[in-house]
Amino acid sequence: MTGGPAGSAGSARVEHLVTSGTFDLDGGSWEVDNNVWIVGDDSEVLVVDAAHDAEVIAAAVGPRRLVAIVSTHAHNDHIDAAPALAARTGAPVLLHPDDLPLWKQTHPGRLPDGELTDGQRITVAGTELVVLHTPGHSPGAVCLYSAQLGVLFSGDTLFHGGPGATGRSFSHFPTIIDSIRDRLLTLPPETVVRTGHGDSTTIGAEAADLPVWIERGH
Ligand SMILES: [Fe+2]
Repeated sequence: MTGGPAGSAGSARVEHLVTSGTFDLDGGSWEVDNNVWIVGDDSEVLVVDAAHDAEVIAAAVGPRRLVAIVSTHAHNDHIDAAPALAARTGAPVLLHPDDLPLWKQTHPGRLPDGELTDGQRITVAGTELVVLHTPGHSPGAVCLYSAQLGVLFSGDTLFHGGPGATGRSFSHFPTIIDSIRDRLLTLPPETVVRTGHGDSTTIGAEAADLPVWIERGH
């Protein structure tokens, strides 16, 4: 990694909010709690998924510079507050372009500001995060991995207990299994997985259950 100014490298930490709202797709609507992750230090941060409440997220960011709003995918519950948070902070909203059809269902008049691509590196507070394109839950789903922090932000691709849902439009179970097996379970087993909903887990805790998920089909 390139590192930041002396004293900043390795100083990044992970902060956590839970916000509530609805997930809407295919004509259904479900009450959901979302994890919002803030990565950075006392000077600058990055937000992973601006879910539901721009005011609460902006308050947690405080006076710190918001370098980017990274969207793990474009289900409405993960992006509904992204434009409002961007307007308040000037930060760009980033999304993998394969999720633009989903994005436009929620924000038809406002496109993301930039693209996420596989292998892209984003640096905040001297800490590097790598974008992993992990389609399956949605076509443009991504995870963010920081070897330095020992953390994976998995969005809705991998949860405590198995893969993200693939029963609705734009999802594909064999594809999410390929993504998890080839891109996530190959990470160090001690990697802490910070998910889009619910509890955290580790790569090692989930890896042994891959055959169970394939057998049950979800
Ligand atoms: Fe989702």
